[in-house]
Amino acid sequence: MCGIVGVLGDHEVAPIILEALKRLEYRGYDSAGIATVNKGVLDRRRAVGKLINLSDVLVHDPLAGKSGIGHTRWATHGAPSVGNAHPHQAGRVAVVHNGIIENFKELRADLAKDGIVPQTETDTETVALLAERYISQGLSPSDAAEQTIAQLEGAFALCFLFDGEEDLLIAARKGSPLAIGHGDGEMFVGSDAIALSPMTDRITYLEEGDRAVVTREGVEIFDSENRRANRAVQQIAVSASKVEKGGYKHFMAKEIAEQPTVLADTISAYTQEAEIRLPTGEIDFSQTNKLTLIACGTAYYACQVAKYWFEQEARLPVEVDIASEYRYRTPPVSDKSYALFVSQSGETADTLAALRYCQGKAAKILSIVNVPESSIARESDMALPILVGTEIGVASTKAFTGQLVVLASLALKAAMQRGHLDSDALAERIAALRNLPALLNQTLATEGRIEEVAKKISTAQDVLFLGRGSMFPMAMEGALKLKEISYIHAEGYASGELKHGPIALIDKDVPVVILAPADALFEKTISNMQEVMAREGKVVLITDSAGAKVASDGVWETLVMPTVDPFLAPILYALPAQLLSYHTAVAKGTDVDQPRNLAKSVTVE
Ligand code: F6R
Repeated sequence: MCGIVGVLGDHEVAPIILEALKRLEYRGYDSAGIATVNKGVLDRRRAVGKLINLSDVLVHDPLAGKSGIGHTRWATHGAPSVGNAHPHQAGRVAVVHNGIIENFKELRADLAKDGIVPQTETDTETVALLAERYISQGLSPSDAAEQTIAQLEGAFALCFLFDGEEDLLIAARKGSPLAIGHGDGEMFVGSDAIALSPMTDRITYLEEGDRAVVTREGVEIFDSENRRANRAVQQIAVSASKVEKGGYKHFMAKEIAEQPTVLADTISAYTQEAEIRLPTGEIDFSQTNKLTLIACGTAYYACQVAKYWFEQEARLPVEVDIASEYRYRTPPVSDKSYALFVSQSGETADTLAALRYCQGKAAKILSIVNVPESSIARESDMALPILVGTEIGVASTKAFTGQLVVLASLALKAAMQRGHLDSDALAERIAALRNLPALLNQTLATEGRIEEVAKKISTAQDVLFLGRGSMFPMAMEGALKLKEISYIHAEGYASGELKHGPIALIDKDVPVVILAPADALFEKTISNMQEVMAREGKVVLITDSAGAKVASDGVWETLVMPTVDPFLAPILYALPAQLLSYHTAVAKGTDVDQPRNLAKSVTVE
């Protein structure tokens, strides 16, 4: 959360930093700011809300200078206000920060002994105040930053800029990612490679505890023991065009529409003729006694779906956990079990902490990530890539279905290795997987109908989602998607749980979305649907043509999906749930790609 940029350029940097911040706005958009050094003088501009507001400020009050830092904020300490916006400045020091300084109260108390009083509610200002105090005591800016960083506890990525120093940035990473970009006579710092992609494709990722002294000549990196460290310069393949909307109104719309294409890539990377082939090497599930799946949010629902797959197909016991709960429960971990962490960003703080808890305890640490250079990928024994390309919309869509494809491939591999699937059955499943992109295209062709239904749902206060079997986690995912972008209260339940409480909520004003392909559990779900209709609930039935034929009588709206292998139905049924949320949000006029209070990459716990 929060995006950081630093530039030592050979042109005016404020416009460059603003552009880079636009590519980081998915990390937070409560406020933004830029500081530069011009003719030796540090100056800054800040604004509340989205970058467009900062851009307006800069039009009326431009900021000159060829070196600078910028920030887009997701508020942790202190409300979104100009005063609390980054860069924070204390005397000769300006700093931008992503993360949380956990000991900032102790540090403030220490500063207070010298009569130094903070002007903001943020933890970050403390960093600038500490560095400024060291400079007042005679330390060089670089040494002041080093001493300051050594005092900080918590998770952070930081970038410092100093009055009087036009050729110096100090960057530091502990817990939050940070990349250094190499240009020709220019150097860059960014929260990720995407932010820097139009300026350079040569990137050095800082490692945990690293501090970087950046000048136009290059970068010197010091590790957590203050030893000179060699970190590789990598050629990164992120092109700026990949992060454009490509003619769509929103990134979310583009990312939903991309699914047939990008999932076809994922499927071909994980299958070879009639076999599952992992792009990263072999995993042997034959001897493992348990699989623990850990994630947050939408990725957690992908894990919930996978539990059905691994247990039913591979007879492998699966425990699924929310990372923020798992990490503090100190659960026993068997050294014969595998722990698998699922994350689009690969930087989610709780998931990373849960992974670290399992290190040295589980037999293998696996991960499924969309960002191969991420912390979770780097700290796993094996990181399986999702391969769906950059996801910008805050609501996860193609990364979710990509996670499902990888999890389905792993479940099939485990089923083969554990002797529960023969090669003919596997060949059939793989053929179904390869046919999935065509079915996803057919599903997208029903978008107009889904939009009509979404318009009707957009006036509701509450919406329930119901499903059975692997459609139960899909119901929870559908509800999460709807609430996060349309702000309509929504809950997902197992259909069988309806009469144990949620049925009390049903009346004529509550749409109930029922995800029910005509599978082995269809009849049971339809009985629950009848219970809803008997109480005047407005049912939106999402099913296939066989289901629609027998169950659409009296239903408020039916959405007909292509017929799909029941094993793969969760992947296909993700699309109508995504489109329903998307069009509901559009009908309500909410900010689809940047819903309030959220950020794409949750790097604080
Ligand atoms: C919802 C959504 C979030 C993320 C969650 C985990 O649409 O995107 O719930 O799934 O914050 O993020 P990652 O996958 O990056 O660990």
